[in-house]
Amino acid sequence: MSKAIYVASSESNSGKSVITLGLMNILLGKIRKIAYFKPVIRENGGNNKDINIETMIDHFGLDVTYNDCYAFTYAELLKFRSEDNNAYVIDTIISKYKKLEDTHDFVLVDGMDFEGEGASFEFSSNVEIAKNLSIPLILVAKGDGYTPDDVTRNVLSTMQILKDKEVPLLAVIANKVDQLNVEPLHVLFAQRLPPYLLTSIIPYASELSSPTMKEIVEGVDGKILFGQNYLSNPVDHFIVGAMQLRNCLTHLEENTLIVTPGDRGDIIIAMIQANLSKNYPKVAGLVLSGGLAPDEPIIKLVEGLETVVPIVQVQTGTFETVNKVAAVKSRIYPENTLKIDLATNAFEKNTDTLSLIDKIVTSQPEGITPRMFQYQMVKRAKLHKKHIVLPEGSDDRILEAAAKLLKQEVVRLTILGKKEEIEASLQRLNIELDRKNVTIINPVDSPLLPDYTATLYELRKEKNVNMDMAADFMKDGAYFGTMMVYKGDADGMVSGSINTTQHTIRPALQFIKTKPGVSTVSSVFFMCLEDRVIVFGDCAVIPKPTSEQLADIAISSAESSIMFGIEPKIAMLSYSSGSSGQGEEVEKVRRATELVKARRPDLPVEGPIQYDAAVDPAVGKQKLPNSKVAGQASVLIFPDLNTGNNTYKAVQRETGAVAIGPMLQGLNKPVNDLSRGCTVDDIFNTVVITAIQAQS
Ligand code: ACO
Repeated sequence: MSKAIYVASSESNSGKSVITLGLMNILLGKIRKIAYFKPVIRENGGNNKDINIETMIDHFGLDVTYNDCYAFTYAELLKFRSEDNNAYVIDTIISKYKKLEDTHDFVLVDGMDFEGEGASFEFSSNVEIAKNLSIPLILVAKGDGYTPDDVTRNVLSTMQILKDKEVPLLAVIANKVDQLNVEPLHVLFAQRLPPYLLTSIIPYASELSSPTMKEIVEGVDGKILFGQNYLSNPVDHFIVGAMQLRNCLTHLEENTLIVTPGDRGDIIIAMIQANLSKNYPKVAGLVLSGGLAPDEPIIKLVEGLETVVPIVQVQTGTFETVNKVAAVKSRIYPENTLKIDLATNAFEKNTDTLSLIDKIVTSQPEGITPRMFQYQMVKRAKLHKKHIVLPEGSDDRILEAAAKLLKQEVVRLTILGKKEEIEASLQRLNIELDRKNVTIINPVDSPLLPDYTATLYELRKEKNVNMDMAADFMKDGAYFGTMMVYKGDADGMVSGSINTTQHTIRPALQFIKTKPGVSTVSSVFFMCLEDRVIVFGDCAVIPKPTSEQLADIAISSAESSIMFGIEPKIAMLSYSSGSSGQGEEVEKVRRATELVKARRPDLPVEGPIQYDAAVDPAVGKQKLPNSKVAGQASVLIFPDLNTGNNTYKAVQRETGAVAIGPMLQGLNKPVNDLSRGCTVDDIFNTVVITAIQAQS
């Protein structure tokens, strides 16, 4: 396997971090242990650390220390170079890189991208380092401010330098290309670059290029007076609010920052109101110049408005402040997960990632890491976008997860609930939903209600459900959402962040029913342990399964594990291994194991077996030396719900493992339950698995 890739741009401000983040994201879907290395850094983060290193370590949870991720600061580099000590520089870079190479499966090397005085030698330094490390390079070409012809010529001249220095080039990625230039540039690349070279073109995206209020605050050295929680607001434009109010309002565009003297209470209040008004665009924030704080009555008024517009005070005058605002550059930092998601999404959407990965990585990994699992799930869900209904629109976490899912273009959504309440929550949370891909329905006044009610009545009249009862049931989100899935108006449902498991899954059990050939609905959790993903079943549905039900759970769980790329080796858990123990509970598991063997001779299964013998190779070998499953089980079936539910929670709490699920299995169409303590990420993951189930 190729052990590393070097990403370099031939000039500054190419937006290279979009490419390194995108690359890290796709590489982690394929390779177990990756390091990030930046030979030379400029310490520019809030705590004076390199922001790219911090973002990589934090966001992707890389197993590296900050200090291992770089060799020199820019100041050190200049010093050693001025002392003509280039040999020491290169030797140190090589030895720090080798340390990472020895302890990791792959290293993503991020080249220098400096401005001003260093720009002239940066690219040649990158080439020199790549050459000394003997690793191939991906070239990032800057698109903004250039014609397609300029970009192509720049790439060709850079390629000549690489050729002269014998540094292999794998791909060229043009970034920040004006949308109108994307097609012509594709044509020019196809005509003038060699066919073996992979090329991709990422269009200019204002959301990525615009700074957020957080970067503005740092850039102007401001003090936050209001709106601390809304510093991720993007700033696309700025104006000076020195004119009369009516003129100021006419200058507002989407995401405008207003720089105004601190005593202009009229402008401050009007901008907060404009942000709330349907007739004006969104206001990014206010910077109050001149060291003037708003008057007391204005402060009192703003406090009562609970504004989502950050208001920042600076000591500098308006002119100087505006110059500082203009100089602020967009950066990606660890807390700005929205921008990180946008970056990885823009990269993936515009790059042939399969071919790129094939070029970079030449051998297949063994097993599946949690990161690979999660990456592959999201990628798979995006392949054929499904429509998922979320009945609990009154829960903020659902709205936050919905925004994330839509932003990453994973699914289409229907959110159930009162429209005005949902809109008010979105406003309060400062969340924007991609409206093209989401519908909000209130079951109570939906035109679908009469038909859904009649259908429920038909399906359940034998169970003593009359029309009035059906009408009442159908006003409930879980019933309405499940009926959408039954009718094919949605492909799957995810609920349970507010309601109990019973409330969520009962409608599905009542009329979505089980798949042909399956008589038991059960569930699995995908337990993302530190180094692998294993499957736990059933931890959520059947309190006291019979042997027949346990066999059903085992077979369904094995099929679920295959569906998600995990090779099933089934352990039927008990307090005894092999023939050592006796007792009713052990016999139940023994019978279930026999049933699995008889019904699915193709599936490797062992039981009864204890947990340690199932997962620990040494104990497995000692207790069941001839077993093909002992010591390497990937699907663990618990004898009852008490054991299963508490074990998954214990593993989750004690090891920090991510538990994805419960995913219901055996139903005709996918419906999944959330835990009431779920996080936004849990909801995101559950929607992703539901979408994948719907694809199958
Ligand atoms: N498989 C297939 N069908 C089922 C199943 C099943 N496992 N369970 C019930 N059904 C069917 C019944 O046959 C019945 O069909 P019918 O009405 O057409 O005759 C229908 O579903 C309703 O059956 P009930 O017996 O009324 O089921 P009930 O709603 O009482 O309970 C439930 C079903 C919710 C699954 C119950 O077994 C339960 O409460 N399980 C535990 C849930 C729980 O609390 N889990 C732990 C928390 S989850 C967590 O921690 C993530």
